[in-house]
Amino acid sequence: MKVFRTISEMQSYSKSLHKDGKTIGFVPTMGYLHKGHLSLVKKAKEQTDAVVVSIFVNPTQFEPGSDLNRYPRDEKGDIDKLESNGVSAVFIPTVKEMYPEGYQTYVEVTELTKNLCGRFRPGHFKGVTTVVLKLFNIVQPDKAYFGKKDYQQFRVIERMCRDLNINVQIVPCPIVREKDGLAMSSRNIYLSKEERKDATIIHRAIEKGKKMILENERDAKKVIETMEKMIREKKTLKKIDYISIVDLHTLKDVSFIDSDVLIAVAAYFGSARLIDNAEVILNADYDA
Ligand code: PAF
Repeated sequence: MKVFRTISEMQSYSKSLHKDGKTIGFVPTMGYLHKGHLSLVKKAKEQTDAVVVSIFVNPTQFEPGSDLNRYPRDEKGDIDKLESNGVSAVFIPTVKEMYPEGYQTYVEVTELTKNLCGRFRPGHFKGVTTVVLKLFNIVQPDKAYFGKKDYQQFRVIERMCRDLNINVQIVPCPIVREKDGLAMSSRNIYLSKEERKDATIIHRAIEKGKKMILENERDAKKVIETMEKMIREKKTLKKIDYISIVDLHTLKDVSFIDSDVLIAVAAYFGSARLIDNAEVILNADYDA
């Protein structure tokens, strides 16, 4: 597996792959890789000739006072994992390489970023879209893989590609969970034993909300109230940013549920901000 740290090395490698008629599957990450990331790598390997992974803790997507400085890192462990999972190349640039002095260009998706995490993390998605577009220009992928745990991120990047005519196919991939239902995340490392146990309520509350909707509850407020009650019972809950039921495509709040929706939650257990969600497809067969 090749390890590139400069933009020019990465670009020439991608150019040579394309010249040989090979397709590139790209998995952008911030490192500290877990099974969720590796499931994206697996999908990329199934669908493309060469898989490129980037590891870059992108400072422009962390709002002031958030966890940029303590974000977990393990470059050596990540490289080992990627190597044993058949990745062709990993791109690990420095902050200076990505944002040299004088840097001043940003990309923003304006509407899809207004609700959910965008409401609580000002500037976050502007940082995400900017770095993802830069990475696309560097890696030149045919397809790029994003986990649906960051559902809003997936929709925002899909929109950016459509709006700016970026020729990269965005492939959304299912959320990967621990055995007890907690969605895998690099941030789970921040949880104490008790917080870790309490945090599993997020997935259970979402499943309860989904069941209510599939059993014909149409009032979003009632579903949200039931979920909120479940989550608030946990002692180590610090704060709920949102429990929302939104249109699957526009991500706008829905009050009467008569089309496919996303149930999404962001809550702090201890100092860890956790997010999770589920799509609810109304006309799908459902076994209660
Ligand atoms: O999902 C992430 O890990 C990041 O937001 C991404 C897409 C790698 C951009 O920094």
